[in-house]
Amino acid sequence: MYAVDIIGQKRDGGELSPAAFAAFIDGAVSGRWTPAQVAALLMAIRLRGMSAGETTDLTGAMLASGVRVDLAALPGPKVGKHSTGGVGDKVSLVLAPLVAACGVTVPKMSGRGLGHTGGTLDKLESIPGFQTALSLDAFRMALAEHGCAIISQTSRIAPADRVLYALRDETGTIDSVPLITASILSKKLAEGSQALVLDVKCGRGAFMKTPAQARVLARSLVDVGCAHGVETEAVITRMDDPLGRAVGNALEVREALDLLRGEGPASLRLLTVTLAARMLVAARVVPDEAAGIEHADRALRSGAALERFRRLVAGQGGRLGLDDDASTLPVAEVETAVCAPRSGVVAGIDAEQIGRAALLLGAGRLARGAALDPAAGVVLGVERGDRVVPGQTLAVLYHAAAMPSADAERLVHAAVELGDTAPSVEPWIMERITR
Ligand code: URA
Repeated sequence: MYAVDIIGQKRDGGELSPAAFAAFIDGAVSGRWTPAQVAALLMAIRLRGMSAGETTDLTGAMLASGVRVDLAALPGPKVGKHSTGGVGDKVSLVLAPLVAACGVTVPKMSGRGLGHTGGTLDKLESIPGFQTALSLDAFRMALAEHGCAIISQTSRIAPADRVLYALRDETGTIDSVPLITASILSKKLAEGSQALVLDVKCGRGAFMKTPAQARVLARSLVDVGCAHGVETEAVITRMDDPLGRAVGNALEVREALDLLRGEGPASLRLLTVTLAARMLVAARVVPDEAAGIEHADRALRSGAALERFRRLVAGQGGRLGLDDDASTLPVAEVETAVCAPRSGVVAGIDAEQIGRAALLLGAGRLARGAALDPAAGVVLGVERGDRVVPGQTLAVLYHAAAMPSADAERLVHAAVELGDTAPSVEPWIMERITR
């Protein structure tokens, strides 16, 4: 099959065959297709769209470009989790050990921060010594020993995605539901889970801004995951305001530790426990979500989840302080308070602007591959619905002495919307999408 014929077929609105996708992915990975040809097909897909069947076939071809982790030798259920990315989303840090403490193996390959959103790997690497670049054998051993492991994607997992993603980034073809679906699932299906629970973020801090957009992506992910034989469901969750109060790598690890000790913000606890419950239902450990919430709650309250987190960290070379008091985590040189200019009620906190403020302070990367400051970020002092008086601390910025904070301060002022009446209460969990 010639590249130009396949490109022409999709350009003219045709439906591609499994063989065409196999030729495309083989050509992209081997270099037999030129970058111009790969990019041309990506743009044709972006403009013409794809059927669920085509998306399933593209996902299969991308998955087959690498290895699929075989966890059959491990006893018990295995369930994976993925979030489409948000601001302050440290759920995975707690969820993986929590669900493992409930008897379910959680194999997790995570990503780094992207734009204004944070990445689980960057958060974990703020713990001194923590290694995320494990071999697949070491990954399997960690899972057997601790029931959970969180690693970076090795070059053996869906190598086609790396080729395609880099070209999508350069050609304005990121925002395509079929391409996002194939990209996410080609990596998640390789992890070796029998079921997947996906947290599809929706709102101004997420890539999907509206419920309609989030629903389309969630439906696509669920249908394609299930078509590949992995029981997949999605929970659409609100990402208008940051999740929890801390945004920034070590700051978020501290907040995750608070949650593991039974403290921490209620929103973060609600979301984590609900996702844990969905994973326990998918693993058939509990009959329904209510029983799952009870089970997960118990594992948090008893300290079992904290104990798993301790094992996860130590197993991957990380060093926390005595009693996991977070004393080994890096601390920023400077703290700058951002104060309320007037009295009012917090009507909302724009998650994207807070994410950008943290990015400017050094918590993320302004250029691909750049170094970040693990101690940098923002900790909010207020949440939606709080009454504030003039001069009250809205947020504290954490940064290096050499890092200017004026732009981040401006962003935080713009993000924290002060009104005169209490805002409506919006649910954190918006919708569940199942097979
Ligand atoms: N995350 C991915 O892994 N792939 C995409 O295309 C978008 C988000």
